[in-house]
Amino acid sequence: MTAKTLPLHGTPAPLPSCHALIPSAGSGSRTGLGRPKQYEVLAGRRILDHTLAAFLAVPALASVTVVVAPEQAADEGLPAPVQVLAVGGSTRAESVFNGLSALLAQGVDADDWVLVHDAARCLVTPAQIQALMTACLEDAVGGLLALPLPDTLKVSSAGEGPDRVRQTLERADKWLAQTPQMFRLGLLHRALMQAAASGFAGVTDEASAIEALGLAPLMVPGSAQNVKVTYPEDLALAEAVLLYRQTQARHFPATATTSALTTEPAP
Ligand code: C5P
Repeated sequence: MTAKTLPLHGTPAPLPSCHALIPSAGSGSRTGLGRPKQYEVLAGRRILDHTLAAFLAVPALASVTVVVAPEQAADEGLPAPVQVLAVGGSTRAESVFNGLSALLAQGVDADDWVLVHDAARCLVTPAQIQALMTACLEDAVGGLLALPLPDTLKVSSAGEGPDRVRQTLERADKWLAQTPQMFRLGLLHRALMQAAASGFAGVTDEASAIEALGLAPLMVPGSAQNVKVTYPEDLALAEAVLLYRQTQARHFPATATTSALTTEPAP
């Protein structure tokens, strides 16, 4: 995949490209559907298709790749520019690591940026993706969309019986990590290779692997709507938002585009 160039002071300077990598190899056991949640149809389209539509609407992305489980290799119906790699692993981190390895083997430059995004976060908007890119392209480490914690955070006591509160944590410095998370491809690959040595223990997002290298990812304020469909009730919530956006787009095409693409302020 070729790097884009921008003429600076008459001399073309190579610019690293940005690629999207969408892990979609999970089984969706927590939704209780008995099948992967990313193939559930909401507002007339599969969850994965809603997610892909947001990324395909960002012209600055050089490529979009989906990682599926080996047994999902026959998956069809994805739009033509999307590359499908059947290299999913047993954890999200392993699926991402395998996808990055495949991109490097295809000749993608290690200095290029990669935006990793959960297939199940189907409410992400092109404007949020673009906001992350704008913030991270100038950053030495890279970063992630995140939301200042709106609720009070409790720690439960371990033990028998119902959960009881052991402690209330200060929430002022707590954020909820979302995706996309954007890092240099080579750096993230190295971070996940290091995590692989311990079976990816504790690595539930890309940033945590980068942090283990002693680096501090940038947190870019995201939207409360950028939820990950995880539990059965999330399906109804996500569908309601998608239907609202579709109605807005039908009745108020100009404003709907703007509002659907606008990052809401954190609550
Ligand atoms: O399970 P969880 O909700 O954390 O999954 C987040 C994303 O990672 C989902 O899009 C899921 O399909 C993907 N995933 C994956 N490979 C796995 C587990 C999850 O690509 N082994």
